[in-house]
Amino acid sequence: MITNEQRAALIEAAIEVRERAYAPYSNYQVGAALLMEDGTIVTGVNVENSSYGLTICAERTAVGRAIAAGYRKILAVAVATDNAGSPCGACRQVLTEFAGDVPVYLVDEAGNGRDTTLYTLLPDHFGPEHLT
Ligand code: THU
Repeated sequence: MITNEQRAALIEAAIEVRERAYAPYSNYQVGAALLMEDGTIVTGVNVENSSYGLTICAERTAVGRAIAAGYRKILAVAVATDNAGSPCGACRQVLTEFAGDVPVYLVDEAGNGRDTTLYTLLPDHFGPEHLT
């Protein structure tokens, strides 16, 4: 169970880190924050490139940082954008590698938006069971 305080802190972290997004081409800044099992929040931003297709989304930047820090389980996700936009399909799939049907908070810079869950965003996702 995610407490109201954890939810608020996660959303705040996503909004704050969004300021550091590197998005000179799209001007669509994204901040992501992941709540890990020990209560730590790991953040990420989108990192664009002049070779556009090399752009990395904020959610996947955050996942990479979390895994490199030794974490393996995500308890909740917050994504902050200009318009409370929803994560792209690739990021949804990458999140499912380390998260179950966890809460996903989609917010704008004022913290307004909507709450959903990862499996609502990506039902019937590909998983390790398909590899056996
Ligand atoms: N972007 C993300 O960071 N996360 C998403 O889930 C969707 C898109 C970024 C990629 C690019 O830098 C910008 O938003 C516009 O597509």
